[in-house]
Amino acid sequence: MQTITIIKPDDFHLHLRDGIALSNVVNHTAAQFSRAIVMPNLKSPVVNTEMALAYKERILQCVDEKYNFEPLMTLYLTDNTSVSTIKTAAESNIIKALKYYPAGATTNSDQGVTDIKKTYAVLNVMMEDSMPLLVHGEVTGDDVDMFDREAVFIDKVLTPLVRDFPELKIVFEHITTRAAVDFVMGSSDKIGATITPQHILLNRNDLFKGGLQPHHYCLPILKAEDDRQAVSEAATSGNPKFFLGTDSAPHARSTKESSCGCAGIYSAFNALEIYVEAFDSLGKLDKFEAFASQYGADYYDLPQNIEQMTLIKKEQDIPDLFPFGDDEIVPFRAGGTCSWQLKK
Ligand code: NCD
Ligand code: ZN
Repeated sequence: MQTITIIKPDDFHLHLRDGIALSNVVNHTAAQFSRAIVMPNLKSPVVNTEMALAYKERILQCVDEKYNFEPLMTLYLTDNTSVSTIKTAAESNIIKALKYYPAGATTNSDQGVTDIKKTYAVLNVMMEDSMPLLVHGEVTGDDVDMFDREAVFIDKVLTPLVRDFPELKIVFEHITTRAAVDFVMGSSDKIGATITPQHILLNRNDLFKGGLQPHHYCLPILKAEDDRQAVSEAATSGNPKFFLGTDSAPHARSTKESSCGCAGIYSAFNALEIYVEAFDSLGKLDKFEAFASQYGADYYDLPQNIEQMTLIKKEQDIPDLFPFGDDEIVPFRAGGTCSWQLKK
């Protein structure tokens, strides 16, 4: 049977939520990943180090003791984030990055940034302190087509931002287009990007295949086949700018299967196996370990993990549902199979 042994990976973009939902999902991640960059878009966003420390404690309280899992905390950037908030965060050693949500771009982004220029004083300090800015790269507003929002963001926001702060570390999160791949490849080594399993595997036809597919709806939305190919080639290229970030984003089933469904795909249950399956099907297994376990850690100046893990090419069934508070959650590829699994 085919196996692959790799350094235990990290997830550089993860939503864990809070309360009982947190306790329902965190051990799916902890079973596969050593560390995860935890997104701060709680209903009441994580806007300072004190809140992040308290959230980290709540996360750790839910992690099963058999796992050695470290949440890496981030803060939510707002128009009102102060320079002293950044200084405290940088000195804390706990806060690994600030997350920039354009206001209204995605789930719980209402308190996000209305104009990036309002944060320039803060970005200057981040640049000096080597604190990465994690970017949800989509413009908002009805004047831009849903499928063009990432490309327009590159032109209108990201290009000027990189010009004004050439030394600022920026992670272009969950890239979905050829334009984003080209932008990252053409930038300095300060610019990295995370890539999700769904943007490697799916295109926008998968939103409508056989009927409307709410569990394939996430933001940024799935794009055309040419974009998917570019993203999948970037992930498997061995270029250290591109690294693993699942963007696993749990939402209760009733809020996904609804007349106004939430954005987010829940992949945490077996994201790693799904990535491996994708790399394998492209004949790129040799590029997997660096994508999953090395490039992201290097980008964030973190030591590489010491523990190893083995994956086996053996089919597993993916459950239909998991408990989620007083509701349920439908995982990515629910009821289907994955051709790889973790060695227990
Ligand atoms: C994320 C969420 O639900 O928090 N949703 C998503 O579709 N990816 C937010 C985000 O990362 O955009
Ligand atoms: Zn996300």
